Formats: sequence, structure tokens, C-alpha cells
Amino acid sequence: ISPKYRLFREQGLHPVRQLPSALVIGVKKGGTRALLEFIRIHPDVRAAGSEVHFFDKNYHRGFQWYRSHMPPTLEGQLTIEKTPSYFITKEAPRRVQMMNPSTKLLVVVRDPVTRAISDYTQAASKKPEMKTFEEMVFINGTVGSIVDTSWGPVKLGLYYKYLTRWLKFFPLSQLLFISGERLILDPAIELKRVQDFLGLKRVVTEKHFYFNTTKGFPCLFKSEGHSAPHCLGKTKGRNHPYVNPVVLQRLRDFFRPFNMRFYQMTGINFGWA
Ligand code: A3P
Repeated sequence: ISPKYRLFREQGLHPVRQLPSALVIGVKKGGTRALLEFIRIHPDVRAAGSEVHFFDKNYHRGFQWYRSHMPPTLEGQLTIEKTPSYFITKEAPRRVQMMNPSTKLLVVVRDPVTRAISDYTQAASKKPEMKTFEEMVFINGTVGSIVDTSWGPVKLGLYYKYLTRWLKFFPLSQLLFISGERLILDPAIELKRVQDFLGLKRVVTEKHFYFNTTKGFPCLFKSEGHSAPHCLGKTKGRNHPYVNPVVLQRLRDFFRPFNMRFYQMTGINFGWA
């Protein structure tokens, strides 16, 4: 390479692809897309657009492959990627630690009961002949019988179990838990926490958001690639099916002790009923 180019590069004026220094690792249906779209408004953040699935499905392709899927960044810009299945992938904590033990980990969590319904709604949208939520959530499909913990939408809500694995490889201080509920009610507050955690200036503020009453969710005035106000796509913020209140109560009772364990581990009470 020419000396001029080398100088250019050394001054950080030439964009280069870097491995991520922060990851949104989960949870599926927690609000991970919203978080990524909101944080990438920040001029010092560059995000991979789609889920790269490196630490689960594509690990065998190697770190060069992973890096090639990252956006080009200038010096001082932070690279971030989100793949929600990392949170529940057994090998992911060790693999992420091997890449960089100081990787910052962001986890959006949401009431496991609503998360399960959201997860089910997504699956049902792809498979119209699917049984009802009530039939799927109990063993034998009998309303009121034992909660089927082997069913993905339920199993994924046992946050304490997956967190235990991550804490074998990362100190709690390297994880930030974002409340999926607050990300909807007050995105600016959660984004302030995220920017502080990532060591970024507080650039993303309440000025960036407006509440779109038709959508029922916060939307953005503008962001990268959009000069006009816009919301997340149709697949984010779906209508949930009606679920029998007795079933909802059963599920809340089921998750309560596991939620308590999760609150203890994180030191945060997320206030799920
Ligand atoms: P629902 O579609 O069930 O309402 P993920 O991106 O992790 O798949 O999470 C999807 C969920 O993000 C949505 O679930 C929705 O509740 C939540 N969400 C949070 N903020 C949102 C926003 N500003 N716009 C749309 N959905 C948002």
C-alpha cells in the first residue's frame, strides 16, 4: 500500500470493518430490533443490518467471515450486532469470550408471559394451521394441566437459566439489561442507560422519538437511511390473539419463582406480575 494510503488509514479516515465490541444477545421478541434501530441513530455506532448468527449457526466460518459481515467503521466508531438466539445458545458465551473478553452484552428482557405470546404469534403467522396458544402451552393440550416447559415459547422465558451460563464467562457488570416494557413506554430513558453503558455521548434522546398512536408504539422522526418519520416494520408490534385469563394467570404463577431468581441475579426488579 502507498504511504499516502497508510497515513490515511492510520488517521482513521479510511473505514475498516471491525469485529463487534458490543452485542445485542437477546431475548427473542424482547424488543431487540427496536433497541438496535434506536442505538444506531448514534453517529458513533455502526450496526450490522441483519442478524449474522455467527456464534450459533455460522461459527465454523471463522472470524474473518464474521468481520466481513460487519459495516465499515471509522476510528472511534463502535460496531454492534444483534442476534437474539445468542442468549440461549450453549456455546455462545465461551465463543464470545474467545473473540473478546471485554465484549459488552445487551439483553432486552420482557415479561415471559407476553414474550411467549409474542413468540407464538410470530410462529402462527408463518403457519396458519397452528393450534391455539392455550392448546400448545400445556402438556397434552389440556387447559389447566402442566405447563409444557419443552415448548420453545415457554422455555425461552426461563431467563435465569440462560443467564447462569453467561455469568460463567462474563462479569455481571459487562451485561446491560434493558426492560422491553420501558423500551416501549419511555425509549429515551432506556437509550440513556444504553449510551452510558457503551461509553457514548448522550446523543439519542427524547427528541428522536414520537408515539405513533395508530401503531401504538414509539417511532422515529428520522434515522440512518430515512429522512422522514417512520416506525418499525409490520412484523414488529403485531396484534396478539386473545388468551384465556385463567391461562394467563397459570402462566404468571408458573414464571413467578423463575422471575424472582432472575431479579436476584441481576439486582433488578422488572416488575412482571
Ligand atoms: P410484538 O410484535 O409481539 O408486539 P424483537 O425485535 O426482539 O423480535 O421484538 C419484537 C417486539 O418488540 C414486538 O413484539 C414489540 O412489542 C416490541 N417493540 C418494542 N419497541 C417497539 C417499537 N418501537 N415498535 C414496534 N415494536 C416494538
